[in-house]
Amino acid sequence: MPDTLTIQDNRTGKTYEIPIVDGTIRSTDLKQIKTGADDFGLMAYDPAFLNTASTRSAITDIDGDKGILRYRGYPIEQLAEHSTYLEVAYLLLHGDLPNESQLQEWETSISQHTVVHENVKQLMEGFRYDAHPMGMFISTVAAMSTFYPDAKNVRDPECRMKQIHRLIAKAPTIAAFSYRHCQGRPYNYPHNRLGYTANFLAMMFKMTDNPYEPHQVLARALDILFILHADHEQNCSTNAMRAIGSSEADPYSALAGAAAALYGPLHGGANEAVLNMLQEIGHVKNVPGFIEEVKAGKRKLMGFGHRIYKNYDPRAKIIKRTADEVFAVTGRNPLLDIAIELEKIALNEEYFVKRKLYPNVDFYSGLIYEAMGLPMSIFPVLFAIPRAAGWLAQWSEMLQDSEQKIARPRQIYTGSDVRDYVPLGKRK
Ligand code: CMC
Repeated sequence: MPDTLTIQDNRTGKTYEIPIVDGTIRSTDLKQIKTGADDFGLMAYDPAFLNTASTRSAITDIDGDKGILRYRGYPIEQLAEHSTYLEVAYLLLHGDLPNESQLQEWETSISQHTVVHENVKQLMEGFRYDAHPMGMFISTVAAMSTFYPDAKNVRDPECRMKQIHRLIAKAPTIAAFSYRHCQGRPYNYPHNRLGYTANFLAMMFKMTDNPYEPHQVLARALDILFILHADHEQNCSTNAMRAIGSSEADPYSALAGAAAALYGPLHGGANEAVLNMLQEIGHVKNVPGFIEEVKAGKRKLMGFGHRIYKNYDPRAKIIKRTADEVFAVTGRNPLLDIAIELEKIALNEEYFVKRKLYPNVDFYSGLIYEAMGLPMSIFPVLFAIPRAAGWLAQWSEMLQDSEQKIARPRQIYTGSDVRDYVPLGKRK
């Protein structure tokens, strides 16, 4: 049987044969289906990209029905167990795991790019004392394009890689500065002898000139969380990164846009929203009442549901294990009981079962962050730091893809037909 789709246009009686490649048809192949010479041709209408592949990609593979997530072919479970965030970032960016010398070179380079220009620090000091860290993070990343004007040479692979090193190295520094700012504490400079997440924790929590040694279990837990958040194929923020990058904007501007897309409570802001929700519920006895409100469509159960995962989110399973390790050090987060009860009831309720709603990556991550002493407002930033690797890998792949052009969707115009301008005095 040929790999084609036969379409009959009942408006004209004509039939068309359209190739099927990799389980898809090309929307531009529909353009030939016309009712007459002045017809633009058939378009596909897909608000929110529910069933439209926007790219070919070799980075991340997800099978939502089977609960599979792989980076460059490696199962997320194996990476979370054996790898480190920086190694995973290398894998996403280069396509393969590094050998020993490649890993050493990569880690050294990242550790040498962690410092930000003093003017960046001054810029951040200009924010209001209670500025939300995510707003500071987004703005500061965007401002970095003014410090590195060479970054606009996006077609130059060497230049691209230089910005990638800078962004991955400086993201934790900017994030930690944004946290220290809202705490009214002096910013800590990076400690390059420490690993990626240990350095981040030191920049966040070090007080005075006493030496600070991050707890190894907590640093490793954060590293695992960073691995889980590093990429997730064509999600809302990655789509923003690719769309902005498709106009050949520099990577700082594009990444700031991606981080802005991440900020929303339906995406990376969900971890903060989950904690707000758990605090509002306040006690296990209030869980059934809350679930009733969700079923009545009055509320959303934050941290539940996913566009792609319709069985379970493999990241949520790993996070639950990590939570136990963290709580063994920090003590149990009292909100955990509410979360467990919510999950237990929801997984047995028809409303959730019918809609295939399961806990996602954000359901438990906030509880871990809170137990580590991190305030809620920094949670979306903790998603943005590791996702930088994914955004940059996807951005780089897009720029090297000869099929990609400036992203420019079409629309179905629903506004008024042509009409004449009415002078102000004659309007009703
Ligand atoms: N609580 C209650 N009902 C829900 C939820 C939820 N969390 N999520 C989906 N539904 C319902 C929704 O109302 C709809 O019901 P109906 O068919 O009666 O209209 C049905 O389930 C299908 O939902 P949808 O909104 O069409 O699904 P979507 O694929 O457009 O949205 C989602 C996916 C993640 C935005 C959504 O599930 C949601 O808002 N979840 C809560 C926010 C959240 O946890 N976001 C983090 C996602 S994972 C991290 C990341 O990568 O961003």
